Amino acid sequence: MKSFKRVLAVETSCDDTSVAVVEHGGKVLYSQSLNQDLAHRPFGGIVPELAGRNHSQNLVPLIDQALKSTSLDWKNIDGLVVTNRPGLVGSLLVGVVTVKSLAWTLNKPFVGVNHLEGHILAGFLNDDEYTVPVAFGYPYLALAVSGGHTSLYHVKSFGNYEVLGKTIDDAAGEAFDKFAKMLGLGFPGGVQIDKHSQKGSKNFHSFPRGMLSHDSLDFSFSGLKTAGLRKLESMSTEDIKSELYNLCASYQEAIVDTLVTKLDRAYEKTKIKNILITGGVSANSRLRSAGSEWADRRKLNLIVPPLRYCTDNAAMIGYAGMERLNRGEFSDLSLGVSPVVSI
Ligand code: KG4
Ligand code: ZN
Repeated sequence: MKSFKRVLAVETSCDDTSVAVVEHGGKVLYSQSLNQDLAHRPFGGIVPELAGRNHSQNLVPLIDQALKSTSLDWKNIDGLVVTNRPGLVGSLLVGVVTVKSLAWTLNKPFVGVNHLEGHILAGFLNDDEYTVPVAFGYPYLALAVSGGHTSLYHVKSFGNYEVLGKTIDDAAGEAFDKFAKMLGLGFPGGVQIDKHSQKGSKNFHSFPRGMLSHDSLDFSFSGLKTAGLRKLESMSTEDIKSELYNLCASYQEAIVDTLVTKLDRAYEKTKIKNILITGGVSANSRLRSAGSEWADRRKLNLIVPPLRYCTDNAAMIGYAGMERLNRGEFSDLSLGVSPVVSI
């Protein structure tokens, strides 16, 4: 019998204010994120101070809404979970201080969770509209790919994660966003590149695939970013305009090709057939199609959870935290935050 059956979770590590109510086994009763894209768009990227300020305004009303929407009372919540690392310090602090104050006044156990552990475990989340495929389970390979991270893990069991590779410079989402910015497509740009690519040819230009000649499973996207800039500098404004779709498709292909090739190498190395792709970049239509073609060819079981559990969300944090609480792992009121990526 698990003593923690239902938790309320908070995620404020970057620019999304997220609250979720999750039950043991990964059933999501409520999960809501307040996106701050509009606030950061004029600056072409996330402004940390602004993110923290918005969290401080949005978080408590969202917690209130979570309880009201689920018709739950605090007595129905067994514990609290909060992301306390890694992320923007000013953003993390809002979530951690709020959850500590609630835990203290309500006398509830709570635990701080690693944001990346949340992404790694997002494959177990389910709800009224989505059921996890039966074949999914430990061990599996997890590719967490977003604006902040690009990491590949061998997930052996809960809490036992081997890092097979990670980016040595920029994250894949950042590479998408920077090229979109160079093209004047706005922020966040990944979705714009994706949209424009659908009308273009991936064979228009061959952009570099970072670190593919190396044996390592690490990633590098800064060379691609520079190559994107150089390519645009070599073209006239009219040519950029007329080749916009082709530029996007070719640039996107370099990122997707790199991600799928590294996944394939990880499979070759481990022979693990369960594969999870998660993080905001998993929304990319070309990554989804190239990933499923690859999985079909290799006869692998590829899972890409619904987007609401791939982008930053509190449900994945709630799942990870409940597993920890049920193992007797609690945080105390001295819990702090850290910007450092530790898995
Ligand atoms: O997970 P997420 O919402 O936040 C973090 O960065 O943690 O991921 C956001 C990233 C951004 O870089 C965004 O441009 C990228 O995911 N993204 C996409 C697409 N949708 C979102 N990248 C490529 N294609 C998309 N369709
Ligand atoms: Zn994330």
